[in-house]
Amino acid sequence: MSTTENRVEFSSKLGFILSAAGSAVGLGNIWKFPGKAYACGGGAFLIIYLIIVAVVGTSVMMAEFTIGRKTHKGAVGALRELNNKFAWIGGLGVLTGFIIVCYYCQVGGWAMYYIVAYITDVKTVWADPMAYFLGMLGANGFPVGALVWGFIFMLLTAIIISYGTAGIEKMSTILMPILFLVLVGLMIRSCTLPGADEGLAYMFNVDFSTINGTAILTALGQAFFSLSLGMGVMITYASYLSREDNLVSNTAIVCTLDTLVALFAGFMIIPAVFATGIAPGMGGAFGFATLAGVFMAIPGGQFIGMLFYFLLFFAAITSSTSILEGCVAFLVEEKGFERKKALVGCCVIMEIVGILYVLSQVYMNLKGIWISREGIQFPIFGDFLEYLTDRLLLPLGAFLTTFFVGWIWGPDNSIEEATGGGRNKFALAPAYKFIVKFVDPIAIGAIIVAGMVFGMAIS
Ligand code: PFF
Repeated sequence: MSTTENRVEFSSKLGFILSAAGSAVGLGNIWKFPGKAYACGGGAFLIIYLIIVAVVGTSVMMAEFTIGRKTHKGAVGALRELNNKFAWIGGLGVLTGFIIVCYYCQVGGWAMYYIVAYITDVKTVWADPMAYFLGMLGANGFPVGALVWGFIFMLLTAIIISYGTAGIEKMSTILMPILFLVLVGLMIRSCTLPGADEGLAYMFNVDFSTINGTAILTALGQAFFSLSLGMGVMITYASYLSREDNLVSNTAIVCTLDTLVALFAGFMIIPAVFATGIAPGMGGAFGFATLAGVFMAIPGGQFIGMLFYFLLFFAAITSSTSILEGCVAFLVEEKGFERKKALVGCCVIMEIVGILYVLSQVYMNLKGIWISREGIQFPIFGDFLEYLTDRLLLPLGAFLTTFFVGWIWGPDNSIEEATGGGRNKFALAPAYKFIVKFVDPIAIGAIIVAGMVFGMAIS
């Protein structure tokens, strides 16, 4: 990005696409998506997810892009400029982002932990991948390593934010394509492991009886999380674009890239689950323990494993910086904080919550400090944070954004902005108008209500 007058702009079209894709492609695609696809029925979940991205995801992204580019302001300022009664919608998004970064940085730290493990101690990782993963989280004692790496990841995120995002844009240009290639390579290897065909059958077997309210809500929350929607980040990114940029093609490209990465990750991990027999629940072990089975089975697996975790780390940091920047910009622009103080204050609180997140995974349960109770479906703090953001706050943020565009600002204004005043083609404009006005608010609203009524009990 470069600065013109007092507004920062992306240095190239590709820079924006890669930065927006960098925010979208992250732990959500590689760490969360495969676990959810596995737990929610494989093929049927994939279809529901694709429909949600194609209809709801693209329209909410378009709504956010047009709000941002129209006003050239961050989330809160943008909504205030369009209608000052609705600035709080942006504020809600900032709060959601704040909660996400707390745990996001810790999981980013696990990726760093694994980079080191693959370099120095790969034999132990491969001897019992699940035990190694649980050991990292405190099965054998206080999880010092996980906490130290979580802290380092948080610190790196903060340092990058303190220097601005120019470096991230450059790094994205090089590393995102490598990430893509490595994922494709690993996916092919995973799908050809002995025993992987059962996993492929699972992914291609479309059995809609596996789809219930939870699966739909999970797909919806996952889509918003994965596309970085519902919390104003895409509003802020688009505020750096000029009128020349084509928002229609940008929306299509970012949504397609993000979804492809999620699908590649799904087809990389789920066949490996069947081939290796390492099938933890919906939890976080997928990208860590399960994949060991793939790395063990490839020549040069140690190096490729290390490369994979490096890319996972990179995907995570381009996302964590985008969220943290949203929180800091809010405190500076809206609350008058000095930038440095806002950054340090945010990081301290995020780190404290993050430590609790890590300890609640395994350690506290083992020590009996945090006892999971029957009947309550978020026994651990981490599940609760994810429940709050993915199932409630992100869908709520997206609901309010589409409601705002559909009924307050007006879809015609959004379409005018999307086409740059008629310069760019937007063949699906009538469909967008209908979706943003009716389909999105009704569908997202209904799913949120269903989630609140049944959500906790049926997860
Ligand atoms: N989209 C990111 C991922 O899939 O990991 C996470 C994320 C980034 C969520 C930015 C929200 C956000 F605003």
